[in-house]
Amino acid sequence: MQKIAILGSTGSIGRNTLDVVDRLSPRFQVVAISGGINTGLLAEQTARYKPEIVSVSTTAHAKDLTERLEALNTALPKIYVGMDGMLAVATHPQAEIVVSATVGALGLLPTYKAIELGRRVAIANKEPLVMAGELMQKRARENGAEILPVDSEHNALHQCLRGEKNHEVVKLVLTASGGPFRNTPREEMEKASIAQAMKHPTWQMGSKITIDSATMMNKGLEVIEAHWLFGFAPEQIDIVIHPQSVVHSMIELVDGSFLAQLGRTDMRLPIQYALTYPDRLVLDLPRLDLTSLQKLEFFAPDRERFPAIDLSYKALRLGGIAPAVLNAANEVAVAAFLAGKIGFMDISRVIAQAISTCEKQGVKELNSIEDALNADTQTRQLTEGFIAELASLTLVGKS
Ligand SMILES: NC(=O)c1ccc[n+]([C@@H]2O[C@H](COP(=O)([O-])OP(=O)(O)OC[C@H]3O[C@@H](n4cnc5c(N)ncnc54)[C@H](OP(=O)(O)O)[C@@H]3O)[C@@H](O)[C@H]2O)c1
Repeated sequence: MQKIAILGSTGSIGRNTLDVVDRLSPRFQVVAISGGINTGLLAEQTARYKPEIVSVSTTAHAKDLTERLEALNTALPKIYVGMDGMLAVATHPQAEIVVSATVGALGLLPTYKAIELGRRVAIANKEPLVMAGELMQKRARENGAEILPVDSEHNALHQCLRGEKNHEVVKLVLTASGGPFRNTPREEMEKASIAQAMKHPTWQMGSKITIDSATMMNKGLEVIEAHWLFGFAPEQIDIVIHPQSVVHSMIELVDGSFLAQLGRTDMRLPIQYALTYPDRLVLDLPRLDLTSLQKLEFFAPDRERFPAIDLSYKALRLGGIAPAVLNAANEVAVAAFLAGKIGFMDISRVIAQAISTCEKQGVKELNSIEDALNADTQTRQLTEGFIAELASLTLVGKS
């Protein structure tokens, strides 16, 4: 039985991971889980999987979880709180696999610590790779850790690259659904509501990644993620819009061949692949019916309406702390949009301001995780300032 720890067990990826664990029972034993505030679900998961360690975001949630577990007559696990708790989950001494599925920069330290311990890290939480992918890969090589992508596009690329030599690969092609605003005129995007932005055409996901898909920042972050996962140069990583979301990504080879991975839009497939690699096991889910596919379309993305794409390539090329700056500015801007403080197109304006400030100040090198964390903290403060300015301009405009 392989022991597994799950960061973000109450989220979309976390719940799908537990579904895979159930399907493959008794292959995995869940030894540690973390959530944020969903103590009801954490209590159910604890009662069912009996992990030794459970982590929640605050002491109030720890108290609430304890009461819920007592009401369920469940033996209490060790309950931890906040970042210490996430670190305890990520470094559980028996965990062989750590699933990294919290959201945003929050996952950086715990994921990095799991890599330092030489674990297999099944990584869905792309932001840590964006912020410090080079350091994570270096540590993984030094400590014998494996980083296996759960993100469907990178998982598809991992499958396509199996057995191929890197020098025979010309390009990695990331597919993108195009999100809810694929064909929406810019003027309408300026006025887009939260509900409109949250309407992803093909995937059911958490709110942050859903907004990232609407701005196409998700694809920009994925370009940086692909760079660090597979070691290809920015100009070798392309994005194509593929509204059907059937081809999850592809590679182009020197002889002109393309290899693609196709499948239904169900995260349980990439999750199972990352947990069981190099084995490929049966997954009893509805199959893709090729004959029902009317068409598979591919378009170039509109970089004018989706400035997040070029901002991401720019941050990757600038190097150093620039991707961490991009990520922090995006996280703050998405939260501000979801809180109704800024408009949809302001998200990329705010990120552009943060990247341009970083460039003007001279991009600092990224030599340690602390460098990434400092860039994250400073950019968050700076970006809050930009947002306050934007909000006051909007108020002046309205008065
Ligand atoms: N969903 C997908 O299909 C998908 C696909 C590819 C990549 N990803 C990536 O995978 C990651 C997870 O995505 P998701 O869609 O699963 O997100 P999600 O549904 O929002 O889940 C996020 C998880 O993180 C926990 N969390 C949030 N804030 C926390 C805090 N302050 N302290 C501790 N835990 C906290 C949440 O706990 P509570 O809910 O208990 O608060 C939840 O368990 C993201 O980086 C995303 O980009 C997701």
